[in-house]
Amino acid sequence: MTEQNATQSPKTDQELTEVLLKEEKIYNPSEEVKQKATVKNWEEAQAQALENPEAFWEEAAKELEWEKPWKKVLDESKKPFFTWFKGAKGNIFFNALERHQKTAVKNKIAYIAENERGEKRTLTYGELYQEVNKLAGAFQKLGLKKGDRVTVYLPNMPEVAMTMLACAKLGAIHSVVYAGFSFMALRDRIQDAGSKIVVTSDGILRRGKAINLKDTIDKAVAEGCPSVQHVVVVRHTGEKIEMKEGRDHWFDEISQAAKEEVKTEVLKTSDPLFILYTSGTTAKPKGVVHDHGGYMVGVNRTIKWVFDLKEDDIYWCTADPGWITGHSYIIYGPLMAGVTSIMYEGVPDYPQNDHIWEIVERNKVTILYTAPTLVRMMMKYGEEPPKKHDLSSLRLLGSVGEPINPEAWRWFHQVIGQERCPIMDTWWQTETGMFMVCPLPVTPLKAGSATKPFPGIKAAVVDKEGKPVPVGKGGFLIIENSWPAMLTTLWQNPKRYKETYWEKIPGGYYTTGDVARIDQDGYYWLQGRADDVMNISGHRIGTAEIESALASHEAVVEAGVIGKPHPVKGESAKAFVILKQGFAPSDELIDSLRKQVRTVLGPIAIVEEISFVDKLPKTRSGKIMRRVLKAQELGLPLGDISTLED
Ligand code: WT7
Repeated sequence: MTEQNATQSPKTDQELTEVLLKEEKIYNPSEEVKQKATVKNWEEAQAQALENPEAFWEEAAKELEWEKPWKKVLDESKKPFFTWFKGAKGNIFFNALERHQKTAVKNKIAYIAENERGEKRTLTYGELYQEVNKLAGAFQKLGLKKGDRVTVYLPNMPEVAMTMLACAKLGAIHSVVYAGFSFMALRDRIQDAGSKIVVTSDGILRRGKAINLKDTIDKAVAEGCPSVQHVVVVRHTGEKIEMKEGRDHWFDEISQAAKEEVKTEVLKTSDPLFILYTSGTTAKPKGVVHDHGGYMVGVNRTIKWVFDLKEDDIYWCTADPGWITGHSYIIYGPLMAGVTSIMYEGVPDYPQNDHIWEIVERNKVTILYTAPTLVRMMMKYGEEPPKKHDLSSLRLLGSVGEPINPEAWRWFHQVIGQERCPIMDTWWQTETGMFMVCPLPVTPLKAGSATKPFPGIKAAVVDKEGKPVPVGKGGFLIIENSWPAMLTTLWQNPKRYKETYWEKIPGGYYTTGDVARIDQDGYYWLQGRADDVMNISGHRIGTAEIESALASHEAVVEAGVIGKPHPVKGESAKAFVILKQGFAPSDELIDSLRKQVRTVLGPIAIVEEISFVDKLPKTRSGKIMRRVLKAQELGLPLGDISTLED
């Protein structure tokens, strides 16, 4: 490597300063949107909230029901372990379901559940309440108590909501694992959480096929999950499965048997509601913990302000409940708001590529919240499929998961929103629990920008030293103050929580791991992850996780994985693999390596390209320098390679 390369500006800096997206056009909200908006003046709302964020969140908390009020809005004495609404007692369940039983919401439809087979089921708030109550009773009989963990491994169907809510009701902690994860990934998550009960179904629908889920659970539990005492199975696709006497129970049977009214546990606001595992820079996923009190306040305020929910809205978030988007904005948020939501199991372009638009038309969906990768997939099919349908019911659109490129943004706006529906591009994370940088319906929009921090959130873009970078220059996105729905810790690993989020950049701020720039109008442009985490189709996957999956293959010594830009998925994974002696590169080996990753992590972890190499660039301390691999792959300057060993 030449001297010249070494003295060029660091590659990451170059990436940071590059102004990738320059979009000047402003999209103003229509009169209709303005009239309907809960918040009429965005700037004023932001300025007011920032003057006194605690007062802002206290006012938001008063919209909800509590068993006992708080003594202090925010306790920062144990920073970065914050307690919101200290001294208060309650349970998110009171707000998501119980309080609706006294109002007209009781007879309203909570979920319209559909799947790719065309089956349809509806549940009112009253019916959902009954189901949750029965399930909670059944869980109690199985010995589930406050603080116990329950792993949920289910398709996108109402039973997910029932299970999560039944846990909340009893003060048990749910850990939902996306049903696309393999048995090994599932096993690790069950073990880490130490779950007593696992809830699953016989199968899951995917592109016309039913895939057995119960077998995955059996395999995972067989491999050392001593904490698991019971497996509860939802009858769904009719897959042939084995039921283990004494351990396995049918969901419907145990629910039917439980009749009595179960008491909702009155909890401290800081009691954990759930654990949700997310990828980081190591192979071990992080168990992000959210509490009852702060979480419900943050989620309730953001969903009401950003999606402007009204009584007659039909809301559809296309995410899976297995991700944070599902937790906050399919389950808890919409239920607290008392709206009708769509739940859909399957892929949106099956059995026909206009299925998603057919669902929108038939159900008269008013708010559609989806991901850029889905928008780009639909764009590929052209304008014909959406044009076959009447999409005039739509009022607001939303985007989440990764930066939405201006081209996809404009297509979504013109073809789907017919230039009538503002797009709420919401930037947030598993850790933040709620929207952090996003517009409100009245916000003037720029295609591809998530606009500005939500009222009450103080964000900034800084350099490695924690100093703000100039306007238009890229840097690390940090959050300067705390917010109610923030993670409270990492499950059984407070040390990792501190190190990962609070000690990366001087100043004691929350580090998001994302790079962004702020333009002359104060608009935020998110540019992706700064750490070794990829964003494939909106799923966060650590390069280290894929590397470790590859290294578990008999032919592999070591592997380095990078993310590359991809037109539909946003990013795709490329692996550089060193083979053991006696193994030679071949197409069969590539297939077998791909399969290995799939087996270890599940079908979401797809390795697009595999290259065989003799050596990987490393630091003197032996860490793989993925940015060197990436720079070479993409033909970018190598940057500072002074720490390169060879
Ligand atoms: C990461 C968080 C939040 C729910 C889904 C993913 C990226 C998310 C956006 C957006 C640009 C975004 C970030 C973030 N991301 N939304 N609107 N614009 N980037 O949750 O798995 O915790 O991933 O997704 O990189 O850090 P997650």
